[in-house]
Amino acid sequence: MNIVVIGAQWGDEGKGKIVDYLAADAGLIVRFSGGANAGHTIVLGKEQYALHLVPSGILYPDKITVLGSGMVIDPEALFAELAMLESRGVDWKGRVLISDRAHIVLPRYREMDKQQEATRRKPIGTTGRGIGVAYSVKAARDGIRLADLEDAERLATLEDEDRAFLARYAERLLPMSVDLVAFLRQHRNSWTLFEGAQGALLDIDTGTYPYVSSGMSNASGAAAQGGIGPRAIDKVLGVFKAYTTRVGNGPFPTEFDPDSQGALCSFIRDTGREYGVTTGRPRRCGYLDLVALRYARYANSIDSLVLTHLDVYDTLDEFEACVAYKIRGRVVEDFPTSVRDLNDARPVLRKFRGWKTSLGAARTWDDIPREAREYVAFIEEFAEAPVGIVSVGYERNQTLVRESPWTRS
Ligand code: IMP
Repeated sequence: MNIVVIGAQWGDEGKGKIVDYLAADAGLIVRFSGGANAGHTIVLGKEQYALHLVPSGILYPDKITVLGSGMVIDPEALFAELAMLESRGVDWKGRVLISDRAHIVLPRYREMDKQQEATRRKPIGTTGRGIGVAYSVKAARDGIRLADLEDAERLATLEDEDRAFLARYAERLLPMSVDLVAFLRQHRNSWTLFEGAQGALLDIDTGTYPYVSSGMSNASGAAAQGGIGPRAIDKVLGVFKAYTTRVGNGPFPTEFDPDSQGALCSFIRDTGREYGVTTGRPRRCGYLDLVALRYARYANSIDSLVLTHLDVYDTLDEFEACVAYKIRGRVVEDFPTSVRDLNDARPVLRKFRGWKTSLGAARTWDDIPREAREYVAFIEEFAEAPVGIVSVGYERNQTLVRESPWTRS
């Protein structure tokens, strides 16, 4: 069975925690896109792990993880992450494989990324990890894939500096390399999780272009870049938070107004620990944007939604969510493509009553108070998809499964 997990907002929805949770029942975890721009946080008791490249199932001792064909891999960042895992007792050897079609991020791409940002009239706010450069070099057909590390003819066409860099890592990278299509054919009876990075609204095609990342972070990325085709996907899960955040620049219709909602913004940011895992930047915060969520749901054929950070609202008397936009006097119910429209969009908000109870101790859906259920029911009706899992804290046991995605429907 093949389940795809993607972010349904602008990234940072809690995919790491959910993939880690679902990985308990999976044999393989394949991350299909992005690179060291991603930051997936997993909390196990007192231990917290920040993963950037390695798929989130790695913390189980018996799971095989694969860095998929759509990923762009910075060897320095990868081996630093693996050394971190090793120093904390995670035995990763033989359990971290890399698709031989994945592209390599060269050190100079990071510099180029920063330079491009510095010369942009309207910077995107990239993570500076060379991601956009790696994907443009790939599209220009000048990229280096893992498989090319064994191709002397290809290597001979490179600049000395790049060749020397690759030579330093080839010996360690090549034993991890797999033909992902063949590997998944051999493991076709395994339960496999396909882990997305970033989120649907940061996807190069379905996102708020040009304020996006350069990889495929929508569900179809799993098919194009995860080693399977679209008909092999059994289910798509879309992870979203009870509110919305965004890092970097670009339109964000429900963003809190710093003058009138500054205190609320600081409360959400601090309670939800809304600081970038990769860059440490404070995340921009706002109410849940249901227009954007419904767009993400349809653009990705999301079968089931996963709601995270619901507990962040525990102490609020009331809160709101966006059900439409007003754009230059017109009410709009579908997520616009134009950045100008999105920048001019003012949220039409609906109020919800808070539950004023701590959700962190809830272990089943029955423990959830009525007001929180009403919020979830409204989301389901609006987004036209069930909320199958609700997360009320960072720990694995703070995950309420209403319907296991591993059951066939
Ligand atoms: P890049 O991926 O570094 O090129 O950055 C492009 C945009 O995507 C910037 O706004 C980043 O802040 C954002 N971004 C990239 N990766 C992530 C992520 O994992 N979570 C949230 N935002 C991200």
